[in-house]
Amino acid sequence: MARGKQIYEGKAKILYEGPEPGTLIQFFKDDATAFNAQKHAVLEGKGVLNNRISEFIMIGLERIGIPTHFIKRINMREQLIRHVEIIPLEVVVRNVAAGSLSKRLGIKEGEQLPRSVVEFYFKDDKLGDPMVSEDHITAWGWASPQEIDDMMAYALRVNDYLSGLFAAAGIRLVDFKLEFGRQYENDMVRLILADEISPDSCRLWDLGSGEIMDKDRFRKDLGDVVEGYREVARRLGILRGDD
Ligand code: C5P
Repeated sequence: MARGKQIYEGKAKILYEGPEPGTLIQFFKDDATAFNAQKHAVLEGKGVLNNRISEFIMIGLERIGIPTHFIKRINMREQLIRHVEIIPLEVVVRNVAAGSLSKRLGIKEGEQLPRSVVEFYFKDDKLGDPMVSEDHITAWGWASPQEIDDMMAYALRVNDYLSGLFAAAGIRLVDFKLEFGRQYENDMVRLILADEISPDSCRLWDLGSGEIMDKDRFRKDLGDVVEGYREVARRLGILRGDD
């Protein structure tokens, strides 16, 4: 499939113009960054796995009625997606204390939260993606009150779906990050799920042993990062046992 000119390069992905108006091609790189890009590495094969895992999850979410930007996977590293205007927020859902929540509130890593919580962070590398309130979001017009409600409702439905999917694969879904965008079509605006859902954007722990299978392996220097991602893909039935 012909890809057009590059329109954006992020830390782990590149976006190119797509073959039709309103489409883009999303390319998954092997690059990994952490701590606001202070730590960087190239992890061979990561992009291929994230492409497959994100495809699998986006197809599942479409099936349960959550609109996403995903159209189809083109090859090992590329997906055809819908062009959206990205809302400059990261929407994090948490089920278990870890990462910045544990640090901020002093809750022991691994403690089950009383209920799932949704948080918003303003996407700004220079500021280190600060946490923001709904009032900040509407005051600066990053999203409307209706969009905030919709993002929260979608985020919790995604959480229900993913928690079940991963539990069936023997994996505990600790937390994850979503991004949303606005799709403009025929004078209509539609909020849809964008970006990717992969071990780069989720915390995934083995249900039995608690072994970390996600990007924290990279952040915390825990060893073979890509093998963790490959095991997630195997357990979801995306890869054959010997892949
Ligand atoms: O660091 P923190 O605990 O806030 O991360 C919560 C979740 O959001 C983790 O699953 C992490 O991988 C994800 N995240 C992300 N991109 C960011 C920040 C967090 O995917 N820029």
